[in-house]
Amino acid sequence: MRRVLVFDSGVGGLSVLEAIAASGVALELDYAADNAWLPYGLKSDAELRARVPALLAALEAQWAPALIVVACNTASTIALDAIRAAVAAPVVGVVPPIKPAAAQSKTGTIGLLATPATVRRAYTDDLIAQFAADKRVIRFGSSALVAAAEAKLRGEAVDASAITEAITGLFGAEGGDALDVVALACTHFPLLAADLAAAAPRPCLWLDSGAAIARRVLQLLSPAPGAPRVRRAGFTDPAAAHGLFSTLQQRGFAMARIAAAAPFSADPLPDGASA
Ligand code: DGL
Repeated sequence: MRRVLVFDSGVGGLSVLEAIAASGVALELDYAADNAWLPYGLKSDAELRARVPALLAALEAQWAPALIVVACNTASTIALDAIRAAVAAPVVGVVPPIKPAAAQSKTGTIGLLATPATVRRAYTDDLIAQFAADKRVIRFGSSALVAAAEAKLRGEAVDASAITEAITGLFGAEGGDALDVVALACTHFPLLAADLAAAAPRPCLWLDSGAAIARRVLQLLSPAPGAPRVRRAGFTDPAAAHGLFSTLQQRGFAMARIAAAAPFSADPLPDGASA
């Protein structure tokens, strides 16, 4: 069975992994998170360009994936070229779904909800210029939502103020009364889609990249139909991820040690983590 490595700074990439798993094909799915550096959305471009390619090269050396999904808009929009140069496997990046959002908007006003880094990236400006030049695009950057999604997966309450702030930032902005599609351009945010929808002043389409990324993976690997196998999950700061272990184990993951990522790790590996 071919093996795919899905990577993010934290649990956000699980929204992408789940879309791949839902496609009903025989793939093995590994997950790695650079939680020692979470949140990426508050890191500088230069820091991310230096760290993420080197970390992915170390992960590739240990886990030998047939394909790597960089399930992180914040890393993809700044470092995709550097990542592709650093690893041998094909790389699928996740970038803001501006094109489908623009195509599906009836009012011509779309929202872009992403990390503070992604909303200000030149890559994002280019996507808007290319696919949404005739649309009003309301951008809102939030790292509080990243923390809220992490908390949700640890089984904790979602920070209502983070949700309210994002909803106000989008719908309360100039022209926000016409908003009908919001591009969820951070992989953490689909994990909060129900919370966002419930707090929104009216129904709108919350669009994420998961299904499109799953299609791209299938196109590149042509896996046989079958049951995907979720395999292992590793963290660069396993001690800080402890609160997530039971959620991940319930989803079928074995907690794994990423020995090759040791130079990137903040803390020693916990007892019981396997290689
Ligand atoms: N999940 C990541 C993304 O898609 C970023 C979260 C973070 O700030 O670390 O942008």
